[in-house]
Amino acid sequence: MTSYTEKGPKPDAGKFLHFDHITFWVGNAKQAASYYITRMGFEPFAYKGLETGSREVCRHAVRQNRIIFVLASALNPGNVEMGQHLVTHGDGVKDVAFSVEDLDSIMKMAKERGAKIVKDIWEEEDEGGKVRFAMVQTYGDTTHTFIERGNYNGLFLPGYKPPISGPDALLEKLPKANLDFIDHIVGNQPDLEMESTASWYEKHLMFHRFWSVDDSQIHTQYSALRSIVMTNYEETIKMPINEPAPGKKKSQIQEYVDYYGGAGVQHIALNTKDIINTIRKLRERGMEFLRVPDTYYTTLREKLKSSPVQVTEDMDILQELKILVDYDDNGYLLQIFTKNMQDRPTVFLEVIQRHNHSGFGAGNFKALFEAIELDQDARGNL
Ligand SMILES: [Fe+2]
Repeated sequence: MTSYTEKGPKPDAGKFLHFDHITFWVGNAKQAASYYITRMGFEPFAYKGLETGSREVCRHAVRQNRIIFVLASALNPGNVEMGQHLVTHGDGVKDVAFSVEDLDSIMKMAKERGAKIVKDIWEEEDEGGKVRFAMVQTYGDTTHTFIERGNYNGLFLPGYKPPISGPDALLEKLPKANLDFIDHIVGNQPDLEMESTASWYEKHLMFHRFWSVDDSQIHTQYSALRSIVMTNYEETIKMPINEPAPGKKKSQIQEYVDYYGGAGVQHIALNTKDIINTIRKLRERGMEFLRVPDTYYTTLREKLKSSPVQVTEDMDILQELKILVDYDDNGYLLQIFTKNMQDRPTVFLEVIQRHNHSGFGAGNFKALFEAIELDQDARGNL
């Protein structure tokens, strides 16, 4: 069953404020950035590379309202760390950064509690001021960077310059997608590693369990999963942690773990205030989404008749766009999932709109699994 959990004690340390940005390590950052821009509605935001004095790594930051993705690639032959990451994982999420208040006390807490420190507190500075950072290790090869921005008023972070190529000529021709902020970021774990990963957030960052679901509820004929959502004290950062559960055939979570080469970020959910408009525009941009069968909507219409919840959006339009609905007695959410963002069946995106509902779409997992299994079968992995 799904369940919501009470907050734990208030941490005696600084606050985790919100998702700051996500860093992807990819084979070709220039082209990857272009894909997020043209298909998903991001805009070129900031750049670091040879022209700005960054001699080892090139970074293209793209932005859409409060969402910032950084696409990074190695510039020189022999970059073993980034090269090996690419060999193992393919293109994927390397780092999820949180904006924090009082980095010193957060790092004191993390160290006392035994977190693996990848890089202890450091500072970077440019004409916009000074920013303080630290980096810790979480699941798989994934890291979290904590960023204390203080009064920094530069473009993005020290060293970044405006995009060198100027505004993208396609931008004014493309419809705006209006994605607003990062709603949640999901991490897939190998079998039986969900619990220890959830505990890592409790122990080292003093996050608490927000919501969970077990495989008795989320399964199809073939596939099953368990999930625990971890969140900070203020509940502004949501990190669901999944693991596969045994099914008749390979779980989609297991397929991810096999192709990613271990634990990693499975999907990033982006919040919008108007999902119908957003998905129309993203489809016009050629973005591809998972398609649930029309029977999903027949069942949904029938079940909603006996629910106190009124879905205000036009159900025919939701069906036409293949947007999913999940609800309880108090509210509902609308969501849809993209196809994978690269050739490996690993990272994908979600678009979500909430109406007084803070779940993660458990009621849709089954329909979704079935849609994913159609693709999984086509890949010969079922
Ligand atoms: Fe999600």
